[in-house]
Amino acid sequence: MLEKRIIAAATIFVLAIAGVIALSVRVFGIDVPNCLNDVRPFKDAKVIEQGPKRYEVHYVARMWKFEPADLNVVPGSTVDIYLSTADVTHGMQIIGTNVNLMAVPGAVNYARVKFDKAGDYLVVCNEYCGVQHHNMAGRIHVTDKPPEPPPQPAVAAASGRDLLDKYGCTACHSLDGTPSPGPTFKGLYGSKRTLADGKTVTATDDYLKQSIEKPDSQIVKGFDPVMPAMEIPPNDLHTIVEYLETLK
Ligand code: CUA
Repeated sequence: MLEKRIIAAATIFVLAIAGVIALSVRVFGIDVPNCLNDVRPFKDAKVIEQGPKRYEVHYVARMWKFEPADLNVVPGSTVDIYLSTADVTHGMQIIGTNVNLMAVPGAVNYARVKFDKAGDYLVVCNEYCGVQHHNMAGRIHVTDKPPEPPPQPAVAAASGRDLLDKYGCTACHSLDGTPSPGPTFKGLYGSKRTLADGKTVTATDDYLKQSIEKPDSQIVKGFDPVMPAMEIPPNDLHTIVEYLETLK
């Protein structure tokens, strides 16, 4: 009698566990990752837009990157991920989702993920795969905006403000009068400067240019001669001085 009861109790227990698993798959939409044995590993990465907010992505993991490295989808997209490896075993975890796949040689692993929230999702490798393992990462950009164009070299129209940062001026000279190692740029242009030797000069274009190129030639009273001589192309120098003129 006792055995029958134990068997009955064990059966109920197993059924209950199975029920909880089935329920959590339905209720929480948990997708159990699959290994697809009947699909040959993808050699090339591919993004297939199957419809509005539906993507199929063939990810290829290789030492030490994911292809595609950057994926752009709009919020609310469902993405079917097919993961292969081109070399050794890698892992693929998409931070902030429940996707955690293995990229195993000879196999394709699958997961479906829905991106409801906009944002940048980091894709990392979580299986040690060599010296650059820790740098192996990709990104999934979930955004309504079109992908940003590649950054243009900022040579053409750098503003005076940008140039001050570029040449490191703002490290020692404030723009708003805040005390700093060097004289502030605020109100500098056109002002009277008392130099360390007691002479007074006016901060004209020429004064400013000379102060930038040969700072030791005219140290303002109360400051240390610590500024390095700057080699700044004439165009940039002109732009900087024009900008200083605007800092009243
Ligand atoms: Cu790929 Cu670690």
